[in-house]
Amino acid sequence: MKKQQTSESAKNLEKMLAVSPYNQLALSGVGPIKDVKIFDTTLRDGEQAPGIALSREDKVRIAIALDDLGVDILEGGFAASGEGEKEILTKLMKSDLDAKVCSLARCVISDIDAVLSTGVGMVHTFIATSDLHMQYKLKMTPEQVKEKAVEIVEYAKAHGLEVQFSCEDATRSDLNFMKDVLKGVQEAGVDSINIPDTVGVITPRAMGYLIGELKKTVKVPLSVHCHNDMGLAVANSIAAIDAGATICHVCMNGIGERTGNAALEEVAVNLFANYGIQTVDMSKIGPTSKLVERITGFNLAGNKPIVGRNAFAHESGIHVHGVMANSLTYEPFKPEMVGENRAIVIGKHSGAHSIQGRLDALGIAFPEEHLPDLLSTIKKIAIGGKMIDDAELLVIVDNLLWKRNTKGTMVTLDELTVLTGKNTTSTAVVTVTIAGSGKRTAAETGVGPVDAAINAIKKAINDKLTMEEYKLSAITGKSDSICEVTVMVKNVQNDGALAVGKAVGLDIVETSVDAMMCAINRDFARQRNA
Ligand code: KIV
Ligand code: ZN
Repeated sequence: MKKQQTSESAKNLEKMLAVSPYNQLALSGVGPIKDVKIFDTTLRDGEQAPGIALSREDKVRIAIALDDLGVDILEGGFAASGEGEKEILTKLMKSDLDAKVCSLARCVISDIDAVLSTGVGMVHTFIATSDLHMQYKLKMTPEQVKEKAVEIVEYAKAHGLEVQFSCEDATRSDLNFMKDVLKGVQEAGVDSINIPDTVGVITPRAMGYLIGELKKTVKVPLSVHCHNDMGLAVANSIAAIDAGATICHVCMNGIGERTGNAALEEVAVNLFANYGIQTVDMSKIGPTSKLVERITGFNLAGNKPIVGRNAFAHESGIHVHGVMANSLTYEPFKPEMVGENRAIVIGKHSGAHSIQGRLDALGIAFPEEHLPDLLSTIKKIAIGGKMIDDAELLVIVDNLLWKRNTKGTMVTLDELTVLTGKNTTSTAVVTVTIAGSGKRTAAETGVGPVDAAINAIKKAINDKLTMEEYKLSAITGKSDSICEVTVMVKNVQNDGALAVGKAVGLDIVETSVDAMMCAINRDFARQRNA
């Protein structure tokens, strides 16, 4: 599937990005990187992340999605860890996947037997080669470690398995000892060799050096497995590929032990955008990431590269203006390239361009002369960091359009104080100014803060004023949603007339009072507009 995509749509994909031209210049010293295989370990190392536990069905669903994305090798689990794990591996084996299914195994005969019992054709076997691990964890001498590694590779090969061998904690292992072990496992017939940065401690330049050194000894394909403890997993993976590794271990969404593994989506995008190597079907990255996020329950940070909810979200006026003219001004590539969508967020940094762009996208013809009003209403609502979604924007617009026919303000609310609490009678004090008749202050109680505030306004304006209808709705159903209040009042000016008022805002009491003041002013405007 992804191979078809390579020739046909790679050119279209290239039009979707604008990365640094220096990337290509820097590559001139590097030998041609033709093909990189994606070894996905979402279901093994990824599942080892604290808090993730996948059922059999979950694993199969993720495996099918990763296969559809186009990964080359799927490390489906660790056969020796239990019957359930073996069943999953057997199930994956029978799921007609294009990817090669692989199981992890320690350098232990019974682990290889467990792999063989599942029917999978590939094993990833590992033993630690650093002094720290050999001395404190394995309690084995370097000679014993080498002997075990060679014995297990021979055993697995003799039983027909494709074998990848890992020197666990390679980046803290003695280079000469590692070369010695790797010579041994090559002679035993290993198919590929993996270099794990088990606790994420190497730098990209050092990783390049290490791979370069190992290439002098290793004649089979070299693989890399990077953890993100110091935030360099993807950079180290790319550095290893740059230096000649041709297999890259990754996890979708960067999940994995502790701070995770190199993120599949970040490695794939970097290889494509900066090296011109297409490893997976790029357009399926977003949907696959969301599926893994949903099933694992491991929520992505908003600022997660490529797939975080802010990866293609723009709020500030300058950026939105640029993006609307040409999205590549403030995006390295178009979200469609990875199956994602752009979001123009309306918030406190929004400028007229963002709002106009959103209105256009929603098909709303909003009078240009009222745009400053809309902008200031939005800023007022969003000042505390609230983001305004489309439904909320529609209500704000509707409210402003509805109000625009009311000319002038006869009654202004100067002050409002509301006292409320548990086992307290809600009490409100208001001061209003009525044009031509001066200031009035009134205090009233109510069954709650809204009722108290409205009663106080009624008292200040006219005792005969009645509330005929009161409607409150939260627009998004979230606790920080904008609310919309509609009121219908009678007798503002003692003539039995009805007046409707509406308001939108974040605070229910304030918005109710605004709606009430809107109705009162509309009633006064009746005569003025007539
Ligand atoms: O991080 C690591 O070293 C591993 C090994 C099992 C290869 O995951
Ligand atoms: Zn690992």
